[in-house]
Amino acid sequence: MVLILRTMTSAMTLDHARALDAQDPLAPMRAQFAVPDGVIYLDGNSLGALPTATAARVAQAVQHEWGQGLIRSWNTAGWIASPQRVGDLMAPLIGAQAGQVVAADSTSINLYKVLHATLLIAGGAHSVRAGGLKSSEKRHNIVLSERSNFPTDLYIAQSLCAQHGFTLKLVEGGELEQALTDEVAVLMLTHVHYRSGRMHDMAALTARAHAVGALAIWDLAHSAGAVPVDLLAADADFAVGCGYKYLNGGPGAPAFVWVHPRHAQTFAQPLTGWIGHAQPFAFTPDYAPAPGITRALCGTPPILAMTALESGLQVFAQVAGGMQALRTKSLKLTDLFIELAEQRVTAHGFTLITPREHGLRGSQVSFAPIGAREKDGYAIMQALIARGVIGDFRAGDANAPADSTDRHDILRFGFAPLYNSFAEVWQAVEHWQAVMTSGEWQRAEFQRKAAVT
Ligand SMILES: Cc1ncc(COP(=O)(O)O)c(C=O)c1O
Repeated sequence: MVLILRTMTSAMTLDHARALDAQDPLAPMRAQFAVPDGVIYLDGNSLGALPTATAARVAQAVQHEWGQGLIRSWNTAGWIASPQRVGDLMAPLIGAQAGQVVAADSTSINLYKVLHATLLIAGGAHSVRAGGLKSSEKRHNIVLSERSNFPTDLYIAQSLCAQHGFTLKLVEGGELEQALTDEVAVLMLTHVHYRSGRMHDMAALTARAHAVGALAIWDLAHSAGAVPVDLLAADADFAVGCGYKYLNGGPGAPAFVWVHPRHAQTFAQPLTGWIGHAQPFAFTPDYAPAPGITRALCGTPPILAMTALESGLQVFAQVAGGMQALRTKSLKLTDLFIELAEQRVTAHGFTLITPREHGLRGSQVSFAPIGAREKDGYAIMQALIARGVIGDFRAGDANAPADSTDRHDILRFGFAPLYNSFAEVWQAVEHWQAVMTSGEWQRAEFQRKAAVT
């Protein structure tokens, strides 16, 4: 092994970064992903890369299970149990146990189900006394969230609050503790923020919610497969998250939903389809929920998408050291990216949005273009993508408070410790610096906004 040492003051070279890769125990995992040549993929927080096993596995499901097995495959290929089987693969990544998670639908739809369930609990349809929760004799009527939470979460909450006579209260991230009063019925948060990459203290906020008699729902879209999550230790009530981001399940992959065991036999979700029925093949006219998490299902599972997601999750089972090992590498990758970007790029007009403190950081890094570059973030990202460095752009929120970083446009870079290398971090910053010094981002082709940014 070549050891290339560097002092604290000397600049990191590509050779230094390659030496870090040579020492990286997770480096061999890269071979399990089909990242195209010439691409530095820093968008696994949006759509994870393709695992090499997935294409053949999906082809087998199409040709053999569907083509040959036909409808028999619901039994013979285990299709009918796939939501639970895939859920069991997710469980260890989020601090849940087998039998507590199912893969189904989208994150938006699963959030609709669990938020509805919590509103019924808060409204007194169920009395909850476990886990330090107060009984629901007194009506709590606020759903509390963060103003800059991912929009789909807020849209779903707006609809449900309007339907059920609750008020959606939105505050800044730093005001959440103060806003947790005994009028709050449900605290609904995204664990790692989609723009800033800032991570909430799930256990502390959940405890605070329970202390005021509220339930806690966590959206793990940017956490599952990216940072260690311990839902049971945090004593959360419900959780949802995406299968297509760090879990590498493919575009539009099924999402997941988890329910704490104290609610598992009593929660009522609104989308009472037959696959969540206690006996789908009894074909009775009346709905009766299946025991436990299975009642979170609604309709027929999308088997081809489920197959791809299962293949993505099987990669995690091979990681020595599990989520802790991935977290260790993720922090090293994001630390290095911040360090190199601040040495070589930020003087061109960027400021770091993501927290420097490890305990507050997910697995992405966002920089805002500022000053003369304030409006150029989109074009700069397009120029980077043209060089094969794929991150993404998120527009700022002009309605955010004057002192909020949410007002800024951002360049977002996601780091997937399963397949990103230290050399890629170095090369990405090298390209970014070249984009800025050459001014190539000013080309007309980079100014045209596509439908998806
Ligand atoms: C926090 C969060 N929740 C939900 C979603 C998307 O949900 P869906 O898969 O239903 O489109 C995203 C997508 O980026 C997200 O970042």
